Amino acid sequence: MHLLSIDSLSDDQIATILAEAQLWFDCNRQPSRNDRRLDGLTVVNAFFENSTRTLVSFAIAAQRLGAQVVTLPVEASSVKKGETLEDTARTLGAMQPDVMVIRHGSTGAPAEVAAVAGCPVINAGDGTGEHPTQALLDAATLQRHFGRVAGLTVAICGDIKHSRVARSNAKLLRRLGAEVRLAGPPQLMPDGASALVVDEAIEGADAVMMLRVQRERLEDELGDSPGEFLELYGLTAERLARAAPGAVVMHPGPINRGVEIDGALADGERSLILTQVEMGVAVRMACLDLLTASRRGA
Ligand code: NCD
Repeated sequence: MHLLSIDSLSDDQIATILAEAQLWFDCNRQPSRNDRRLDGLTVVNAFFENSTRTLVSFAIAAQRLGAQVVTLPVEASSVKKGETLEDTARTLGAMQPDVMVIRHGSTGAPAEVAAVAGCPVINAGDGTGEHPTQALLDAATLQRHFGRVAGLTVAICGDIKHSRVARSNAKLLRRLGAEVRLAGPPQLMPDGASALVVDEAIEGADAVMMLRVQRERLEDELGDSPGEFLELYGLTAERLARAAPGAVVMHPGPINRGVEIDGALADGERSLILTQVEMGVAVRMACLDLLTASRRGA
């Protein structure tokens, strides 16, 4: 079994991951949190794009379950000598790891790796494709806060066009019964999608999820100065006031303060941003457990 996209998961698997994640979340806050169920297994992290949260949380998740973690130092690897992704994947696979976690700038790269790896592969973000574990941790965070996902209205705002986070979240949250509204600057909406104005999307929403502008994936400069972007499309206190009473603020990180979100709101009492990070470890523990179950005979 691989974890490449939200569609690759059954409803049962999603329910299992979300339920297990809540248990790991509590467990991770205890000083004695030793669970060795992945003892003797090896997890390889191969991140061809930058990462803080996803990379470190996969490593912590694997280690909390007793696995060994090896991180491919991409910048110092044979990738820089011209080795293809497929050859790199075959090479890593020949070392008999038990899971490979792949982040790559090219959409579909984790599926290419999965075809030759010989072990379960997790997509940790592929280009403008998907980021399934981010969506799972966002759903688990909403579930923890509201006690449910079904019936919530979630506004996802910003660079929708280039966001793998938006793509995976729209699929998962809708599947779980939430209303998802996507909004952003017209030039950052997917082709063919109507550009909902950010103010309208936020109106009455239970959760407002802001996204970073993926400047590394933009062909042309946006043209707006950071302050202008915040004024026109970002999350300000005035805009948040349109949301439902008790609405929460989310962001997958990294945040660009004063661009897509007023820094004070990111730090404010409605912000779940650090809960999302904490849930990231818990969700990845649940994913690693599920993906290695058959190898362990569990
Ligand atoms: C996101 C990503 O890499 O897709 N970050 C993350 O994993 N939390 C979002 C982003 O880079 O803007």
